[in-house]
Formats: sequence, C-alpha cells, structure tokens
Amino acid sequence: MSNLGEPLPHDLLDDGERMSREQLRELQLDRLRATLRHAYDNVELYRRKFDAAGVTPQDCRTLEDLARFPFTTKADLRDTYPFGMFAVPMSEVRRVHASSGTTGRPTVVGYTENDLSMWSDMVARSIRAAGGRPGHKVHISYGYGLFTGGLGAHYGAERAGCTVIPASGGMTARQVQIIQDFRPEIIMVTPSYMLTLLDEFEKQGVDPRDTSLRVGIFGAEPWTEEMRREIEERTAIHAVDIYGLSEVIGPGVAQECVETKDGLHIWEDHFFPEVVDPVTDEIMAEGEEGEIVFTSLTKEALPIIRYRTRDLTRLLPGTARPAFRRMQKVTGRCDDMIILRGVNVFPTQIEEIVLRTPAVAPHFQIQLTRRGRMDHLTVRVESRPDANPEQREAAARAIAQGVKDGVGVSVDVEIVEPETLERSLGKLKRVKDLREP
Ligand code: DLL
Repeated sequence: MSNLGEPLPHDLLDDGERMSREQLRELQLDRLRATLRHAYDNVELYRRKFDAAGVTPQDCRTLEDLARFPFTTKADLRDTYPFGMFAVPMSEVRRVHASSGTTGRPTVVGYTENDLSMWSDMVARSIRAAGGRPGHKVHISYGYGLFTGGLGAHYGAERAGCTVIPASGGMTARQVQIIQDFRPEIIMVTPSYMLTLLDEFEKQGVDPRDTSLRVGIFGAEPWTEEMRREIEERTAIHAVDIYGLSEVIGPGVAQECVETKDGLHIWEDHFFPEVVDPVTDEIMAEGEEGEIVFTSLTKEALPIIRYRTRDLTRLLPGTARPAFRRMQKVTGRCDDMIILRGVNVFPTQIEEIVLRTPAVAPHFQIQLTRRGRMDHLTVRVESRPDANPEQREAAARAIAQGVKDGVGVSVDVEIVEPETLERSLGKLKRVKDLREP
C-alpha cells in the first residue's frame, strides 16, 4: 500500500491547513470574540464568572486579552450537572457524551449538528495527518458509548473516506481474528490495549509484523517514546499520537503527523491553547512546560473557556503544518502525579524504565501502600515467559536502581508471572492506591 508514512500531498490539505499563521491568528480572534459573547449571553455560570472577574466579552481585543478571563474546571461541569453549561436549547443538542469525573458524577458534554460536523472534520484531518487516505480500512478499538473515543473516531474515519470496522473495546481474541480477516491498514486504540492485542497475536501464533496494519493512531492516555519504539519494533506500523478530551470535543484536538512524529499539531482554527503554571496560574512562554488550557473557538452547544486540562506539556512552533503550533507528547497529569516522600512520580517515568529493562514484559502496575506513616510504592512487572530466575532477579534490581537514579525514590519491585496483571480493555489504570483514606 503506497503513501502510508508519506507526507500529505498539498492538494489533500483542507482550507484550515492551508492558512498562514497571520491568517490563522486573525480568524482565531474573530472566533474567540464570538465564543466569549455566546458563552456570556447563554450560560449563567460564564456570566457569573466573567462578572466576578470584572470582564465582558468586549474586553477581548487581542488574543492576549484572553488571559484576563477566568478559567473553567471539571468542578464547574460537575456543579452544573448534567446540562447546566449548555449554551443552546436542548432541542438543538444532537448528542451527549460523558467522561468519568475524578469523583462521583460524570462530566457531561453536548454537541449540536455543527459541532458534530466540525468534530468529524478534525478527526478526519487527524487521520490524514497520520497517513490515512480514502479507501483505507480503519479498525476502531476505542470503546463505543458515552466515551468520546469510539464514536469520535468512527465519524471522523467515515468523513475521511475510510471504511470503518467498529470493533469497540474488549473480546481481544475476536479483535485479532477480525484484523486477520478484514485486513485493515489502520488501527485506532489506546496504546495499552494495543500491547494487549500484540500479546494476543503472538498467543495465536501470528507475528504482528505480518498483519495488514501499517498505522496505529494511539491516544486517550499518556504513552512514551519507549512505548512507540516497542510497538514499531514488534509490528510494521507507524505509531502516532492523537490527543483530545471530552470537555474540548473528544479525540482530534491535536494529532501527530506521520512524517515527523515530533509532537502533536493542535488544530488551532478550532481549539486555542495556552500553557499555564499549574500552581501560580501564570502563562508560560512557548517551550516551557506547564498545564495546557484550551478555549473552543467554534463550538455551539458547550463553548469552553480556558479549560484546565490538568495535562502537562509544552507548546512548540509548527513543523509539518507550519501555521499550527505543536504540543509535546503529554508527560503526565498534574493530578495522577504521585507524591512519594516529597518526590513527584509519574507513571510514565516508571514505564520508560520498565520498557528498557530486558526479561520483563511492558505490563506493569504501580501499587501505593502505607507502612506506618510512610507511603510505599511497589512496581509490579510481568516477567517475559522465557526469563529464568536469575534474569528476573536482575530485572527487579535494574528497575529499582533505575527508579532510584532517574526519579529519585526507593521502590520495591516485584516480578510476577506472565499474564497475571490486569489487562487494559480501554484506558489502563496504572496506579492502584491501597492506602487507607
Ligand atoms: O480520552 C478522548 C480521546 C479518545 C483522545 C481517543 C484520544 C483518543 P477523556 O475521556 O475526556 O477523552 O479523557 C481526556 O485523557 O485530559 C488526557 O489526560 C488523556 N489523554 C487523551 N489523549 C491523550 C494522549 C479522551 N494522546 C484525558 N496522550 C486527557 C496523553 C491523553 N494523554
């Protein structure tokens, strides 16, 4: 199959992708002013928050003026559950989705007809950037349902002119069978479930390098360059990153281009990014790491103003799509960060170490327990089936040392039997917190 891994030919770029940076900034300002007005006029919570901050939509004269407006958080959506932040009458809302909240109630989001169409356009643009072309078959293993992954990818792939295989999550053995029989070129799935699928291929005696798959579009959870290397070595696919969140739209907020694999271009004609210091709220300069914050520029049902994602990354200038800035691969979240004896620990840091250690599989889990008054962290890692006891012991020592050197904390490492840790059927829960509340 030609053109997988090739840059998108110029005539396949859409109008948004052909804009210059200057044209884009002009469009962003127009759209931003309209969005602030729409939010202020139609959502009580925004009116209250803008009034309290002493700003009105007219105060936004430049893109920099956005910094004067208040942030929106998951708590705002929770407090107005389920539909209190919708800016259009319910009769204009064509679909709702929901994502798990950090506690209790889910976060509910809504879409008008135009919102759904824009979303499909952005996912289609993402699939093209990943190497997808009309006529390709796309196997979608993101879960279908209230989660935005399945249906978001589905309509985007259709919009891109692809043939959709709506597999959804779960039933791993059957997924492998379907991939063997239907021969898709592209798979869209969480990176952790991709590893589960690769194990299943091998279990069924199929070398994953011999499948029809050439591109994997992985997102919905953080993953690392080591994970990319592992997947690309075990398969014949280009592994690229897709980012998004329900509150902003779903998948398709930003996408890595297959020819550069250098971070994700943010589709800035619809989603305006800022990076702020998660503690002081100060805006950070391009290149500095902080929490990424998004403002929607065209959404009707749920305009979102300065949404605090809790995702840590940095903004970089555009490359393969020069007008759009990139975000570096998300390194973690401000809130799944573990603070162990004063040291910030991210599951992705542990993952990097596990992936470069021989004799263990890329399946691991972090357990937090309390011993006396001290928090304690145990990394449980699966052994490779062929590893002998000496190799397992050496792996445990290497991981513990790697965490001590690289992260700065002492941890216990337990090597467990192959295939004994919980497998991901969607988003993997890496951290098991067994401490008493
Ligand atoms: O996970 C949307 C999505 C579906 C994105 C499929 C990509 C593919 P939520 O359930 O609302 O939406 O979760 C959003 O997931 O704030 C990040 O913490 C995390 N996340 C999403 N994509 C990535 C990624 C979907 N590529 C939350 N890298 C976000 C790292 C990601 N984290």
